[in-house]
Amino acid sequence: MPKVYVTRMIPQAGIEKLKEKGYDVTINPDDQALDTSELIDALKGKGYDAVLCLLTDHVNAEVLDAAGSNCRIFANYAVGYDNIDVKAASERNIVITNTPGILTESVAEHTFALMLAISRRIAEADRFVRAGKYKGWAPKLLLGNDVSGKIIGIVGLGRIGSRVAHHAAGGFDARIIYHDLTRNEEFEKSVGAVYRETLEELLGEADYVSLHVPLLPQTKHLINAEKLKLMKHSAYLINTSRGPVIDEAALVHALKKKEIKGAALDVFEDEPELKPGLAELDNVILTPHIASGTEETRNKMAEMAAENIIAVFEGRTPPQLVKPS
Ligand code: GLV
Ligand code: GLV
Repeated sequence: MPKVYVTRMIPQAGIEKLKEKGYDVTINPDDQALDTSELIDALKGKGYDAVLCLLTDHVNAEVLDAAGSNCRIFANYAVGYDNIDVKAASERNIVITNTPGILTESVAEHTFALMLAISRRIAEADRFVRAGKYKGWAPKLLLGNDVSGKIIGIVGLGRIGSRVAHHAAGGFDARIIYHDLTRNEEFEKSVGAVYRETLEELLGEADYVSLHVPLLPQTKHLINAEKLKLMKHSAYLINTSRGPVIDEAALVHALKKKEIKGAALDVFEDEPELKPGLAELDNVILTPHIASGTEETRNKMAEMAAENIIAVFEGRTPPQLVKPS
């Protein structure tokens, strides 16, 4: 029976699926992310046939070699797979899979939660009340901005970006502009969106800029000091994609200088570390990479990762196969 290593405890639903098939499942006993050398130690010489890994695991050539020649698949428990060297895996005939689709709603909802929270200063208002500062209703207390009727700029029109646009147009009568490498006329018709050929154009117009690109060499620091300067002083930046898409030190500077009005971030450049000064700012909302973190979605992600592993050992193509680019 296939031997599977799970790099950290995930929801039981996924583990059960593997056990039901009679697979021999070993789970990292510590509820902590493994660093690269710990991951290598955990895999080396153990003869695992499959690894279920997380976005915190840095799966490079050395880790793949440590898994050894028996290993057929690394199933990532995430939609993003910038943590994996997919080319090195393919050279070793190791299959890579991810968990797209099922987490789209949760991530889109969290994006909206952030957008509303930064606009209505929810975290700041909560801190204000808890600190005993609320002395009675006041006409100008903690004024925010409406999302309704605003221009929402979607950067990266994948599943998640499209869903955020759908909510913004349908629920908030927002105007949608988007930038992507390719234009999608069907999407434009469905939400009345308008394409912007350059990121620069979008940044100059949007009241909210929401990032939905994968992390690639070309998207690292896509939003840098120069790009932040193109945004409106009244605009908000939302990131539920990957931290390094934003030059976080440049963002801290722009927020301090009030070059933009606020930012809401679920991901950070040096996760879990924050760039100096970020946590001291009031015009930011910070959440700890929990956009897909609902009970419903994390269960489905666990099942999907397990199903991808099972497919390989049943001689099928795994449903969520990642192809090397
Ligand atoms: C979460 O960030 C994911 O990629 O699933
Ligand atoms: C990820 O699922 C995306 O396509 O945005």
